[in-house]
Amino acid sequence: MIPKEVIEEIRYRCDIEDVIGSYVSLKRAGSNRNGLCPFHSEKTPSFTVFPGTKSFYCFGCGAGGDVITFIQKMENLDYVAALEFLATRAGVTIPNDAPEDREKSVSRRRVYEMNLEAAKFFRSCLFDPVLGREAMQYLTENRRLSGAVIKRFGLGFAPNDFGLLTKHMRSRGFTEEELIAAFLSGRSQKTGRLFDLFRNRVMFPVIDTAGNIVAFGGRVMDDSKPKYLNSSDTPGFKKSRVLFGMNYAKEHCAEELILCEGYMDTIAMHAAGFGNAVATLGTAITAEHARLISRYTKRVIINYDSDEAGQKAADKAMRLLDEVGLPVRVLKLSGAKDADEYLKLYGADAFRTMMAGSHSAFDFKMDKVLSKYDVSAAEGKIRAARELTALIAETYSGVERELYLRAASERLGISVESLANDVARARARRIREAKKKESRDLQLTARNFGDRVNPDAARNPTAAAAEDVILGLLLLYPEHRKAVMAGDVHLSAEDFFTEFGRRVFELISDMERGSDGFSFSALGAGLSPDEMGRLVRLQQDRQALQNNGKEVLSAAAAVLIKERERRAAKDAGDWQSDLTRRRAELQQRKENGTK
Ligand code: CTP
Ligand code: MN
Repeated sequence: MIPKEVIEEIRYRCDIEDVIGSYVSLKRAGSNRNGLCPFHSEKTPSFTVFPGTKSFYCFGCGAGGDVITFIQKMENLDYVAALEFLATRAGVTIPNDAPEDREKSVSRRRVYEMNLEAAKFFRSCLFDPVLGREAMQYLTENRRLSGAVIKRFGLGFAPNDFGLLTKHMRSRGFTEEELIAAFLSGRSQKTGRLFDLFRNRVMFPVIDTAGNIVAFGGRVMDDSKPKYLNSSDTPGFKKSRVLFGMNYAKEHCAEELILCEGYMDTIAMHAAGFGNAVATLGTAITAEHARLISRYTKRVIINYDSDEAGQKAADKAMRLLDEVGLPVRVLKLSGAKDADEYLKLYGADAFRTMMAGSHSAFDFKMDKVLSKYDVSAAEGKIRAARELTALIAETYSGVERELYLRAASERLGISVESLANDVARARARRIREAKKKESRDLQLTARNFGDRVNPDAARNPTAAAAEDVILGLLLLYPEHRKAVMAGDVHLSAEDFFTEFGRRVFELISDMERGSDGFSFSALGAGLSPDEMGRLVRLQQDRQALQNNGKEVLSAAAAVLIKERERRAAKDAGDWQSDLTRRRAELQQRKENGTK
């Protein structure tokens, strides 16, 4: 455990507005600040920072907490690692008095050190004339990569051996637990011993924009499966937040960025002089990626494989990039399955010509629709028009809608006016449906359905609501905590109906009774970031109300106790009626028997 004073010191030195401000652009909103939530896609800000309570909350997605929770979520760190991260930022030293505790959580810095050492090892294997002969041949001959490109991307080779890397890393002082945490070694179920996870693969290090090696992708050199093995998420690495090649592309993508599908395409693009190419890592693009991309560039060219899977992925990328307001064009390569192959066959100049003729996202979709129907016949024309007007109706900008209407009118031979009418109708319908969905969502939340933080709430909304009041008050006011501890207000953990409420109450009571006393931040050690988010909401809800005195606390406690009694009575009742029913059954059977 990190001492409470140290936690408070870190919280004090890491001003929540400063820290969050370095990730999110915040605007003043009364005494608070707001901005676009970094945890979900949105166009209007519902993410709020409350400097007064040193907390944040997103009214859109429910993310919330203090500065530590924010870093946990943003940097994908556990509680202790987030504290370390902030301590480094603030120049606070965390006393190293409990070494056995600290070993358990492997810090991201340590993972980076391991990855760097492993990358050096893989590289020396690749350049080893014996060990790396086949791999080097694969990269230079089959994939036609130059020595300079191989070095620039730090490529390597994981030899076909179960223990070389693990042994090397152990000799460099990394522990077994650390190697497992970094996704470099696995532990054999049978022998309990460590083994190398990457074997007989060419290795692609994934480097973040700060220059840390955060993960690896390893490709087989033949057709065996799986084609790629990728590091799974580790401390300090979350796939959805890293783009392969961004470490170089960030210098070249201020205007335009080329989004590719894989490691090889990205490398081939860079090698051919397109330094603004990046790729996601073995996963489809996420909303988080889209937000990240929007921080670096003004527009995007999607350069995915020409097969069906690639084109489907392009659809998703278009939607997500559109949501963050980036104009998108889609490249459709013909005569090659992907950029790597295209460049090899036709060269960089041909690729550049292709790019100049790349289609706007709408053209791309329109082509797809038109290719489905025979638009020379009335029937096909009507169907195509229906799909196209629906597409245009989805477009946010009026200027764009007008351009698309003209293009569609030309291709279909239908007047702009009649298409525009259909678009207007489709838009009205969309807006109606969106409103309906919104109010349905609100109702659902109100009824606590789908509440993942507190799943029990739906089964007893009355008790859950009372618990929310109690927890909000206890979190906010020391005098209320004292009153409950002293027994002035009758309330114990057993009175809570929901598991979540009970757990939070117990954490608060333990702290209050402990020598360190209560600290909101320290709750983060025992709760998940989502749970912390919920607590901030409870605090905010309470704070917005006038009356937060002891009588409110007592009334809510009384509700809980009454609910508990009612449940007990009901349970007893159920049991009683069960008994009566069974007796009646037995009686019946006896009577039948005697007949
Ligand atoms: N990928 C993966 N796991 C697989 C297949 C693919 O993680 N089993 C990811 C990799 O990031 C890969 C990307 O998806 O780079 C694109 O896949 P693919 O086009 O199959 O691979 P390429 O990198 O283009 O490799 P190659 O050109 O050698 O086929
Ligand atoms: Mn490919």
